[in-house]
Amino acid sequence: MNDRIAPESVHLRPAEGGERRACRMLLQRGDRLGHLGELWIATTADPDSQILGALSLLTLSRTEAASAVLVSGRVVRHWRGRGIGSLLLDTAIAATRHLGGRALLSQVDPAADPDGVAFLAAKGFERTEFLTTFEVATSRVVESLAPLIDRLRQSDRIPSDARMVPLRHAPLVAAARLHADHLAGTTQGVSETLNDLLVRDDADDHAVLMIGDEVHGLLIGNTVDGVTVVDAEVLSPESRVSGGSSGWASIFMLAERLEWGLSRGSRITRFSCVSGNRPTRRLAARLGAQPIREEFVFSGTIDR
Ligand SMILES: CC(C)(COP(=O)(O)OP(=O)(O)OC[C@H]1O[C@@H](n2cnc3c(N)ncnc32)[C@H](O)[C@@H]1OP(=O)(O)O)[C@@H](O)C(=O)NCCC(=O)NCCS
Repeated sequence: MNDRIAPESVHLRPAEGGERRACRMLLQRGDRLGHLGELWIATTADPDSQILGALSLLTLSRTEAASAVLVSGRVVRHWRGRGIGSLLLDTAIAATRHLGGRALLSQVDPAADPDGVAFLAAKGFERTEFLTTFEVATSRVVESLAPLIDRLRQSDRIPSDARMVPLRHAPLVAAARLHADHLAGTTQGVSETLNDLLVRDDADDHAVLMIGDEVHGLLIGNTVDGVTVVDAEVLSPESRVSGGSSGWASIFMLAERLEWGLSRGSRITRFSCVSGNRPTRRLAARLGAQPIREEFVFSGTIDR
């Protein structure tokens, strides 16, 4: 059994410059929106300054509930079992309290990270949901959604001025605000991330749902080597099923983007959704999408 490390021997601070890249690698955040939010790094306090662990914190937008912060932490394997994970969690709790957040959420893949499940359970977190990643043939989605879109159009459920616009031709700050207000991050942080996406070769894979002059949806995802990954989908409240819409917007965005993906050689599409997201789960079942990964979502309450 390793000795616990003395808290004064650990330097825990916001990551800067090249440290941010090291944190993202350690946290295994390859997704495009993994760049959002705060990053913290833990190093030894001696001059060698070895990396011990990393932490990311992302404020989630919850209109109906108190705000929650999504936390992801990882300790370098060699240093585990010495109290560093506990120091990271204490930092996450203090930062969440400072941000006015009332809950901490964390996603863990139990197959890849059984230590994370044991750790969060030991810390009093509760397992509240599942996050399932589905996989389906892109052509199948496009073929299945086309008649559905036709029916929605015929019954006038899709506004005549609704259209998908590549991110570079859309009002970027309004799209960032939609993301910040209804999914995660701050308008400035999301704007910076969206601007970064625009300089990449696959910039036109990301698109915005416009109705007239207004931004009502954003779909971030791209196609690489025949695989389309949908990283984030956000809709304005009035375009959601819960906002009284028939659910056309989500289907419309997906159908249009996957048609685009198909033209770029997409064979397979991957998307994720939590167990509580019934419309997307129903769509996954209807498309015959296969679950390929199941993560646990843990939740912990922050005392004021
Ligand atoms: C989860 C993780 C951050 C824990 O880091 P750590 O430095 O080993 O954690 P600590 O030493 O502070 O452990 C604190 C407590 O968690 C529990 N715990 C941690 N690892 C455990 C394990 N493998 N089995 C059972 N309990 C465990 C124990 O109760 C421990 O208390 P103790 O020290 O009194 O025994 C680390 O295992 C890790 O990086 N895992 C991969 C990433 C991950 O799963 N992150 C999810 C959380 S965001």
